[in-house]
Amino acid sequence: MNHRITVVGTGYVGLVTGACLSDFGLEVICVDKDRDKIETLKRGVVPFYEPGLENLVNKNSSAGRLTFSNDIKAGIENSDVIFIAVGTPSQENGSADIQHVQDVARDIATYINEYKVIVNKSTVPIGTVRLVEDIIKRYQKQPFEFDVVSNPEFLREGAAVYDFMHPDRVIIGTDNERAVSIMKGVYRVLFLNQKTPFLFTDPESAETIKYASNAFLAMKVTYVNEMAALCEKTGADIVSVARGMGMDGRIGNKFLNPGPGYGGSCFPKDTKALVNIAHNYGVQMSLVEATIAANENRKKRILSKIETIVGELHNKNIGVLGLAFKAETDDTRESPALSIVSDLARRGAYVKVYDPKAMEQAWLKLNGLDNVQFCENEYAVAEGVEALIIMTEWNQFRGLDLTRIKASMQKPLFFDLRNIFEPGIMRKMGFEYYSVGRS
Ligand code: UGA
Repeated sequence: MNHRITVVGTGYVGLVTGACLSDFGLEVICVDKDRDKIETLKRGVVPFYEPGLENLVNKNSSAGRLTFSNDIKAGIENSDVIFIAVGTPSQENGSADIQHVQDVARDIATYINEYKVIVNKSTVPIGTVRLVEDIIKRYQKQPFEFDVVSNPEFLREGAAVYDFMHPDRVIIGTDNERAVSIMKGVYRVLFLNQKTPFLFTDPESAETIKYASNAFLAMKVTYVNEMAALCEKTGADIVSVARGMGMDGRIGNKFLNPGPGYGGSCFPKDTKALVNIAHNYGVQMSLVEATIAANENRKKRILSKIETIVGELHNKNIGVLGLAFKAETDDTRESPALSIVSDLARRGAYVKVYDPKAMEQAWLKLNGLDNVQFCENEYAVAEGVEALIIMTEWNQFRGLDLTRIKASMQKPLFFDLRNIFEPGIMRKMGFEYYSVGRS
């Protein structure tokens, strides 16, 4: 049977899920209450930058498999599988706010008209599958059958389409065989190729896998960042150290690139939420707590390193390349680049900035700071600055005309916080070059 899917929420997760499932040949309705967003999507425009997504949306919209709507009632009535992919932002105390998930559960209870599988893709506290079940049971007018499944997403922004099509694993959390068989049908393209590992487990374990994975990766990045700080003192080279560590199959070579600290919409939010969840159960997540604190310290440490080398920041001209929290995205949420730019500006420096995709997002957040200037390209940033800082590892920056950059800078101080250049070459070119974990 070809399933009819509704995806509620057209953010990164929802839109990528909807577009990719339609590309698998399923009929998908993407629903959002934001009218502007739906109108934009109907015109074939994706409201954020994600490589490959717009093509996929247009291809499947033209084929008639992918549609966009504000009408949640029709979406629920006309589908047998409903994905919940709405936002779960952080609250003051770090816990995830699941109000939007609860609202969708209420809508499903109101409009359910036959058996449905409800799939939770949003990152939610452990126990939310049961909560959604309770809400639907409590509010539905007739006792229709349904099953709620946890199916966490592991997409990386910037590689989300690829990750959906080639996942390391698909996790399905449900106690119910009927729901398992429907989920195998939804993911049949991946299930039948037998290359994608599937894990069928209970809902609580599936929900925990999501938090445990993100917190572990955040911890791994933070670990390598601390190791980099040590290397800077001892004379070791973090690139060799990370390579040597990564050769151990038990450690693995991914997520061992040191940088200015992790950011984005997931690691900061999910680490805090995990600590909060554990706290509510009387369990201390001391490693995750230490990770959160170390990541905050990382940004302070970097600022103080810059200050030590540049000297008094007041009235200094400083250039920053890269504002997104990582390359291949326009997302600046919790971006270490924004925190460094605002700290520099608050200390009286004049900061010139440029990012290939994230200018608009950054402008909305840094708008209040008078001494931040948004430039049209890398070379305009470098003009007359006393220090240049690489914050995001865009490929475009790897190809900089360094001779031109050096000639236009007032002083050749270069901070490469993503290790995208070779220290030997940079020094030979006459830069006073500082990178991460390489003395
Ligand atoms: C992360 C996870 O990688 C995804 O599996 C997950 O689905 C997603 O969160 C989510 O929960 O939605 P994402 O936030 O897009 O994905 O970004 P990552 O590529 O994981 O990078 C996170 C942060 O760690 C970035 O600031 C990045 O610059 C930093 N990082 C990553 C490093 O500093 N070094 C590394 O080696 C890797």
